[in-house]
Amino acid sequence: MTTTPAPTPRRRIDLSVASEPSIAAKAIPAEELAALQPTIDAINALKAERNAIVLAHNYMTPDIYHTVADIRGDSLALAQEAARTDADVIVLAGVHFMAETAKITCPDKTVLIPDPAAGCSLASSITGADVRLLRQRYPGVPVVCYVNTTAEVKAEVDICCTSSNALAVVESLDSDRVIFLPDQYLGAWVATQTDKEIIRWHGACEVHERFTGAELRDYRAGYPGIQIIAHPECPPDVLAEADYVGSTAGMINWVKSNRPAKVVMVTECSMSDNVAVEVPDVEMIRPCNLCPHMKRITLEKILHSLRTMTTEVLVDPAVAARARRSVDRMLAVSGAPAPTPAAAR
Ligand code: 13P
Ligand code: SF4
Repeated sequence: MTTTPAPTPRRRIDLSVASEPSIAAKAIPAEELAALQPTIDAINALKAERNAIVLAHNYMTPDIYHTVADIRGDSLALAQEAARTDADVIVLAGVHFMAETAKITCPDKTVLIPDPAAGCSLASSITGADVRLLRQRYPGVPVVCYVNTTAEVKAEVDICCTSSNALAVVESLDSDRVIFLPDQYLGAWVATQTDKEIIRWHGACEVHERFTGAELRDYRAGYPGIQIIAHPECPPDVLAEADYVGSTAGMINWVKSNRPAKVVMVTECSMSDNVAVEVPDVEMIRPCNLCPHMKRITLEKILHSLRTMTTEVLVDPAVAARARRSVDRMLAVSGAPAPTPAAAR
């Protein structure tokens, strides 16, 4: 290993950073927003009372994303912010592995997940025992795990990565061979860009593996000039059709910077809803593959979570300490670009 654990700078969060009402009003029909307003107000009041922040993944529905999220981002940004925040309570509006990652990086804080059943097909595809068997089979080969894994798995590996830094993490390792888990498709994508041999696990995202190259060729034929941008959890025949491949934040930034006339975002479908309102000049073609785990998180559950301080995410301290080394090594490789507070986007 050539990496060292990252320092974790602390930064106070401005708790008043919900999106501008005008964005929420554009993203959510007026009657629906009026009906949601008491819930939104109650959440924002409880955040101030408890010194809490809501970290929201880009796949949250617009009612969460544009009203109560203090930080919105991809997995890397959420992990970075968890490592920085001075808030006492973190509500993770995302899936369980994201909340666990937050707890690993700040064990002294209370981390809440509004629905503990919000899992991930990648995280459930591999165990710590599986990693130990891989190490026996490939002695001395460093192990990289995607953050879409349990704390138990993170504790067994050398370094974590996300979809936005996977290549940089693999390249940072002083070895010609690297074990990459659990996403076979992200591993295959990295393998196309590095000279290192990538030994992959067989996990897959149940949302992204449903896209096909044929479907994207149909979009190209049906919408001349369309730009296709895809998440690297998609299978290789899908990525072969894409004009850009990147993390959820990378895809959002690409659309905001390039302003294509027409685009299809090949990923979970709430993201197009969230971004469309911010780029009204871009026509979004929206295939809808929903992540059933992400969709477990609702405004009502966020309110319940803050009222009752449940469900608290706990990680065995010995496991968390070992997992933290893998997360900190990743953060050191990634540098510490600031995630974007919701109000500034
Ligand atoms: P990102 O890190 O790109 O947000 O991906 C997380 C995820 O679960 C995508 O399915
Ligand atoms: Fe996991 Fe896929 Fe859902 Fe992301 S979209 S949380 S990888 S199941």
